[in-house]
Amino acid sequence: MNYKLTSRSEFDTMEIAENLESEKFSGMVICLDGELGSGKTCFVKGFAKALGITDTITSPTFSLVKEYLDGEMPLYHMDVYRLEDEKEDFGLVDYLNQEGVCIIEWPEMIESQLPEERLDIRFKVIDDNTRVLIFTPYGEKYEELCEAVL
Ligand SMILES: Nc1ncnc2c1ncn2[C@@H]1O[C@H](COP(=O)(O)OP(=O)(O)OP(=O)(O)O)[C@@H](O)[C@H]1O
Ligand SMILES: [Mg+2]
Repeated sequence: MNYKLTSRSEFDTMEIAENLESEKFSGMVICLDGELGSGKTCFVKGFAKALGITDTITSPTFSLVKEYLDGEMPLYHMDVYRLEDEKEDFGLVDYLNQEGVCIIEWPEMIESQLPEERLDIRFKVIDDNTRVLIFTPYGEKYEELCEAVL
């Protein structure tokens, strides 16, 4: 089952993320996939804001992972766009086993490392301000979460 939402502004995208945050749990994994500038980092900003994180969210493109620890739960923001090799171990498993939420941009770069149970969100650019977000939950927990908030 897929869910589809239309976002007409950055604000809308952040609000969608804030709604999902209300159903957060430790070990939650969200994969954001979509072209450059489609709104993935904007989504992370909304999620972080709802967690009460005060640090500015910037793309971790060169560091691959940024940790935000001052919110209700740790947030690990990963952007693996520049990963050289799909099999490169950048510690994903360690992050998945820690308390907190992992949000991954460019998950297709590490497809073989992704956990089976997760929420995929695909961002499609429609025009300057419009994005369609397609949610695909894998696993019962994520299906319930989508039913609850989408
Ligand atoms: N509905 C929308 N939702 C989110 N961002 C939007 C929307 N409409 C326009 N934008 C603009 O699109 C851009 C999204 O940038 P963002 O950094 O979030 O993209 P990204 O998908 O993370 O890109 P990258 O792959 O380079 O990391 C911003 O400049 C934002 O202002
Ligand atoms: Mg980004």
